[in-house]
Amino acid sequence: MTTDVLIIGGGVIGLAIAIELKLRGANVTVLCRDFNAAAAHAAAGMLAPDAENIPNQAMLSLCWRSRSLYPDWTSKLEELTGLNTGYWPCGILAPVYQQQGEKNASLLPSSRESPAYWLDQSAIHQYQPGLAAEVVGGWWYPEDGQVDNQALVNVLRISAESLGVELKDGVAVEAIRQQQGQVVGVQTNVGVIHAAEYVLATGAWTNELLPLPVRPLKGQMLSVQVPELTPELPLKQVLFGQDIYIVPRRNRSIIIGATSEDVGFTPQNTPAGIQTLLQAATRLYPQLQHYPIQKLWWGFRPATPDELPILGTSHCKNLTLAIGHYRNGILLAPVTAALIADLIWEQKSDPLLANFHYSRFQAKSSTSLPMLTHPANFSNGHRTAIASQAPALSIQDSGLIIAGKTFQSRLMTGTGKYRSIEEMQQSVAASGCQIVTVAVRRVQTKAAGHEGLAEALDWQKIWMLPNTAGCQTAEEAIRVARLGREMAKLLGQEDNNFVKLEVIPDAKYLLPDPIGTLQAAEQLVKEGFAVLPYINADPMLAKRLEDVGCATVMPLASPIGSGQGLKTTANIQIIIENANVPVVVDAGIGSPSEAAQAMELGADALLINSAIALSHNPPVMAHAMNLATVAGRLAYLAGRMPIKDYASASSPLTGKISS
Ligand code: GLY
Repeated sequence: MTTDVLIIGGGVIGLAIAIELKLRGANVTVLCRDFNAAAAHAAAGMLAPDAENIPNQAMLSLCWRSRSLYPDWTSKLEELTGLNTGYWPCGILAPVYQQQGEKNASLLPSSRESPAYWLDQSAIHQYQPGLAAEVVGGWWYPEDGQVDNQALVNVLRISAESLGVELKDGVAVEAIRQQQGQVVGVQTNVGVIHAAEYVLATGAWTNELLPLPVRPLKGQMLSVQVPELTPELPLKQVLFGQDIYIVPRRNRSIIIGATSEDVGFTPQNTPAGIQTLLQAATRLYPQLQHYPIQKLWWGFRPATPDELPILGTSHCKNLTLAIGHYRNGILLAPVTAALIADLIWEQKSDPLLANFHYSRFQAKSSTSLPMLTHPANFSNGHRTAIASQAPALSIQDSGLIIAGKTFQSRLMTGTGKYRSIEEMQQSVAASGCQIVTVAVRRVQTKAAGHEGLAEALDWQKIWMLPNTAGCQTAEEAIRVARLGREMAKLLGQEDNNFVKLEVIPDAKYLLPDPIGTLQAAEQLVKEGFAVLPYINADPMLAKRLEDVGCATVMPLASPIGSGQGLKTTANIQIIIENANVPVVVDAGIGSPSEAAQAMELGADALLINSAIALSHNPPVMAHAMNLATVAGRLAYLAGRMPIKDYASASSPLTGKISS
């Protein structure tokens, strides 16, 4: 049997991915150096997106999604093996000591996706007897829970074996052989092993194989046992305190964790570590001090610099990354398995993955000044008169990443409204853009200027962004988006699942319909599209679209084709502040100064069509827009000076020699 997918790493992530791929029909092999070393064995098994207080919205969405997969995922594994995983949606209680109850309560609005309730002093003590008297209140997270991680890893392993996944324990990968951007085999202590696809799920040990920023963060833990004389379980939910958690299992063990120590792979428990844990645990729940200690252990969390996992494609075409799950590996196992299997087996990239791409840590490319004399031959023969003595300036900038795909240019353009196809070609070249949006309906109906479009641009270099212009309803837009995907395929962009979603029933102002857009976006995301919705600059709508999985949001600056410039600045600023997906300012930009201003606000990219196509000299204007986009981006990265109320001399007097 040949292996379709070789997974390096037999922890909870590697095994979960192996099972998911196997269930979808792949032949899978898992290599594991030491099954018992995986962080999964050391964890406490909390499923705690709410209690963990995760600040990153994309991460929170990923965690919530995974938590919601848990019931079905564990039932499936339990059915396969006849064994119990200890999944227990018991809720998590997060008591606090400080007199900040009311303040807390008003600070944390209960979210629709995942409610949180504030319990005041009497409510919390009534609900959970035995808490320290100094507890003044706390949060109740009813949708958080736990799984018995030891049982889970065991069930995963047995499921994998029973499904026919080939598990090779004691096999250490020494190197990943790469040629021309492909993995061609892995070198191990038992020889070279080959597969079509490879997955890296090596947790805290990743850095031994590839230069990815994952480091071990040690956690020490212990367990105590509820004494036989106590018939009832005294704790029936997880207690999540400050720097301590107490996780009661139904088998009468109580797990206490965990330290967080940046000490590399230094093994063993230490008196200092255990003392800290015992002090914090008995402070929160004093009766623990009388319970017999069962076990001490430690593990290594795979931490990344931004504490988010690294998921998705890598620098090699056939190598997928599923690493760096830090404090949430057990929680994130089912969603990681589903997303990685979608990616490898169905070539479907969930838009959420873009937030976890490894390229965010790569030696970043520089945003450097664009060429000041552009090589394109402008139709009127003029060249810009700016001297090309650009100083060697550069500043660290990641490219524009949309749905896992990186673009260096932050200016997108269109193909409509040009006087001739040649002018359009020259303008696209002069704009330096890498994304061009195309109206699917206009191509379909061979509208003026849209014949010959397939041949007019080099689709090997330009990424097509099919748009649903002309669609008045969600249903129409969904249909046209599907046609757009086919169109991109015909042009050789097999993996292009992008769509610029426009639902515009109003002919006068061409304002998008927010409800239709949201409905269509939800459906298209489900169908695997990377959805880039065109919207009015409405921060709430932008958030809702991000929540349903859109790859960007594209708020308008002013009505399409109006050239009125930035009329929605305040709202665009709020959108930018809250977005975890790229914000592309679309429509209404009329001049390069407005383009620069939008970029200075912190927009990730711009889409400009009419201002270029309707200018007197479109290629030159396209070039100017490119310069403005880069200038605005550089200014944003450089950070503008603060605005002051009064003048301040350019040549300060301080430090001068006075006579
Ligand atoms: N998931 C809790 C921890 O890593 O300590």
